[in-house]
Amino acid sequence: PNPAILVSFPNADAIVESLTAFILKAQKESIDKKGRFTVALSGGSLPKMLRGLIDNPAVKWDKWQVFYADERAVPLDDPDSNHLACTNLLFSKVPIPQDNIHVLDTSLLDDLEELSDAYEKELIREFAQKDAARFPVFDLILLGMGPDGHTASLFPGHELLAEEDRWIAYLEDSPKPPSKRITFTYPVINHAARVVFVAAGKEKVQILSQVLDNPEAGLPSSKVKPAFPGQLYWFVDDAASAAVQYP
Ligand code: 6PG
Repeated sequence: PNPAILVSFPNADAIVESLTAFILKAQKESIDKKGRFTVALSGGSLPKMLRGLIDNPAVKWDKWQVFYADERAVPLDDPDSNHLACTNLLFSKVPIPQDNIHVLDTSLLDDLEELSDAYEKELIREFAQKDAARFPVFDLILLGMGPDGHTASLFPGHELLAEEDRWIAYLEDSPKPPSKRITFTYPVINHAARVVFVAAGKEKVQILSQVLDNPEAGLPSSKVKPAFPGQLYWFVDDAASAAVQYP
């Protein structure tokens, strides 16, 4: 893989400004190439870092196809839903067609295997016939990193870190509540054209240095390594990057 590109900013507003410009450039390259822009979002603090897209006339919302890199197995209006967070903070404020946002089939919440299979099929509909690839190639995957180094719902020491075939997997034992979730697997994350981590705040200072300076330790965020020509970026603030030696 290409080495990760780390950019650090004085505060969250500066991250938002630069991230917005980055997303718009990725959007343009993707639409120029194939007329659409495939994006995956996460929960946590990520949705509010997308505020630069609101009231932004350069965003071509009708060309976006949005998926969730991980989602909690809860109804779409549950406070734990990543889709609800993204809706409240972004989608309710912009003209994106509802059909362009790919949500869980919540009629399947009682059976996580069916729930994750159905979401995998949703990805296959978007990617497989079009790209004829074994794995989807997202134009952009946006990730957060938890204080234990997890990303999406890939947690330290979990058996899903070894998943090589499935696109979407499920877990019932997430250490971060709620326990039932579905998540992109590494084959999906690591086939993307661009993966961007966003991490801010002094609570992330030790773990960010671990993930970037000591990747051999194998924390889930260190295992995000997009295959060439995919590229990995870290958008962080100076509080989070204070202990980082990288590059
Ligand atoms: C989730 C998120 C998760 C999140 C990290 C970072 O559904 O739990 O997708 O992976 O991105 O836990 O969360 P913060 O950005 O809130 O630190």
